[in-house]
Amino acid sequence: MKKISLFSGKALAASFTMALLILLSINAVLSGEQSPKPIPDNVLKILDNSCGKCHNQGGSGAALANLNLTKWDNYDAVKQGKKAEAICRTITTGKMPPKSFIKKNPQAIVSEEQRAIICNWSKQ
Ligand code: HEC
Repeated sequence: MKKISLFSGKALAASFTMALLILLSINAVLSGEQSPKPIPDNVLKILDNSCGKCHNQGGSGAALANLNLTKWDNYDAVKQGKKAEAICRTITTGKMPPKSFIKKNPQAIVSEEQRAIICNWSKQ
């Protein structure tokens, strides 16, 4: 019998692979799987300046336990997503940087423009 080329071994394997990839991506979307959230340079610059003193390696223990910017790459995608949200939230509510710190380090104040850059990134 003559083989129909569409169903030849290779084409079949290719369609099977495609179907599998489509199913996998649907599954990823449905399960809410997150992709990693690296900190872009423009955001990192602001965080280093305003938060680094406590949240970069060598900072304060309590701060690092909550957020260690130096070890960001070690956080999994879900944790990065949650921390990014918390970064935007704490700046927006004025919890971070702590008021007592800003008093002595006014250069650490996050401007409205900087806050917008950070929150836009966190909500991406
Ligand atoms: C003077 C030190 C200091 C600076 C500067 C600082 N933090 Fe913190 N941060 C802390 C400490 C201490 C904690 C843990 C205790 C607490 O939650 O208040 C904390 C906790 C946090 C938390 C977790 C707590 C929560 O409510 O989710 C986030 C997120 C955070 N900081 C973000 C930031 C960001 C963003 C900046 C800069 C804009 C910043 N911090 C600047 C000391 C600091």
